[in-house]
Amino acid sequence: MASCDMPMWSVADKAVVTLEGLGTAEQPHPLQRTFITEQAMQCGYCVSGILISAAALLKRNPSPTEAEVRAALDRNLCRCGSHNRMV
Ligand code: FES
Repeated sequence: MASCDMPMWSVADKAVVTLEGLGTAEQPHPLQRTFITEQAMQCGYCVSGILISAAALLKRNPSPTEAEVRAALDRNLCRCGSHNRMV
């Protein structure tokens, strides 16, 4: 869920994973490692939301099609136009 339209009270009894919980500098999540290796981002402003959305997609669907990836990231806007590299 996008944190910008999610009231805190609605997740009071839920587990919440943020980017900080995805990986560490020493042990980045495979998505984080791949974004770095592939130089997928430009300014990085959008990356937190995109990584969390992508991780959520892969958790529920480990082998998504390109169309499913694009649909899952549809609400995450990248002003640098880096969507294609991220996909
Ligand atoms: S990399 Fe700059 S907004 Fe996405």
